[in-house]
Amino acid sequence: VPSTGAGEDSWTSSGLDFLIGVDLRGRGLGAALQQAVREAIRCGRLRSGDPLPSSRALAGDLGVARGTVVEVYEQLAAEGWLLAQHGRGTRVADLPTPPPARAEPPVPPPPRHDLRPGHHDPSSFPRQAWAAVIRRVLAEAPDEAFGYPDPRGRAELREALAGYLGRARGVRATAASLQVCSGAGHGLGIAFRALAARGARVLAVEDPSSPRVREIAAGAGLQVVGLRCDDSGARAAALPALGADAVVVTPAHQYPLGITMSARRRAELLAWARGTGGIILEDDYDGELRYDRKPVGALQALDPGRVVYAGTTSKSLAAALRVGWLVVPPQLAEPVAETIGIINAWPSALEQLALARFIESGLFDRHIRRIRGIYRKRRDLLVATLAAHAPALRVAGIAAGGHALVRLPPGGPGEHELVAKAALAGLALAALSGYRTDGAPAGQRGHQAALVIGYGTPAGRSYRAAVAALGDFLRSAYPPP
Ligand SMILES: Cc1ncc(COP(=O)(O)O)c(C=O)c1O
Repeated sequence: VPSTGAGEDSWTSSGLDFLIGVDLRGRGLGAALQQAVREAIRCGRLRSGDPLPSSRALAGDLGVARGTVVEVYEQLAAEGWLLAQHGRGTRVADLPTPPPARAEPPVPPPPRHDLRPGHHDPSSFPRQAWAAVIRRVLAEAPDEAFGYPDPRGRAELREALAGYLGRARGVRATAASLQVCSGAGHGLGIAFRALAARGARVLAVEDPSSPRVREIAAGAGLQVVGLRCDDSGARAAALPALGADAVVVTPAHQYPLGITMSARRRAELLAWARGTGGIILEDDYDGELRYDRKPVGALQALDPGRVVYAGTTSKSLAAALRVGWLVVPPQLAEPVAETIGIINAWPSALEQLALARFIESGLFDRHIRRIRGIYRKRRDLLVATLAAHAPALRVAGIAAGGHALVRLPPGGPGEHELVAKAALAGLALAALSGYRTDGAPAGQRGHQAALVIGYGTPAGRSYRAAVAALGDFLRSAYPPP
């Protein structure tokens, strides 16, 4: 008897025991029967090789036209679920058993206060201004903007970026040398792959540096070697001994030490690149955020033929946008274009058009001025709290960006002990050793103990409570004499 109720099972008597749930809600019987058979196979009630009733018998049992069942069987056979064999009737096809679903890894509860670096204040996003720009883009963009975009990025955005980067960061770029990508990490990954395609094997990275960038480089097939940093930045003189084909640096604000690379080190890096044919990748991940002194211009301007420049909106606007850019030297233009062609992914063209307008209208500059004020205040609160609660700790790297290096004095708790105790107090902190390329803990190989405190998050007003909790925690860890 056909089931006309929602989700009832029909027990057919077509010579074979055949239990299927036919849910007739909102569709025809054929579609419902198809879905029921698929579901029965998927959940294992019908297994590979199981016979199905003849179309005549099943049609009779369900009280439907035989043609309906024949069509269902044919459709499911075409999709590969069933096998119709002449003289042997219809059976469930030989389907591979699906692998057991992977258990979701347990998600640890979020810390009460997260002061790890690498994040911006998500509550500072200019929602209204962005919404207005998006509305205009949707109203005014030509139809072609809704098709497949130019893999290099929208021309409007590349034009706007060339002007902005020249004006704000001293970068020498044209629309033609710009490649839009989904953040600096994506951009660096493209550049790493392009370099590997050209024969590069060894990539030097700053020690310490972002583990994520190192993973991206290793994923591109490069051998990653550490280049030690001191108070002037990366020690360029060590590059020849490392046998590096390319080096990735953060000259404006070393990640995570917060140093600005000295003019001498810049010159040494460029001399190495010119002398060996090496390529420098400049990761300008937070170049817009500078507080106490004039911005330091991009290294790229000193030799655009040898430096790949990478930038992002992740710190200045929102990491959620996934919009970044590369300025590519002519010698890498072709491999970069080929790589982006293979990767075949870039940010939404509509978001690109919105950013182009945001920059051209002056809204981006206004927004940057506003968030500089927000981050400066956050930084000042952190520095004042540490001075009041833990005067034994030394803060460094605070002229720019969204994180500070807090050096730990000898004789106190070690980095890991401190981070573990902080976790028990509901505070997530990061130890400097987590950024070391050799993985050696503080105290070994001349590594100093320090925390890297991010002051971009927590969002909005919860930041004040987080810094107060940090102050209390550090006062208890380093009690005043
Ligand atoms: C040093 C450094 N480089 C690159 C990135 C990647 O930024 P994006 O979000 O643009 O991929 C980050 C992100 O935190 C970073 O800290």
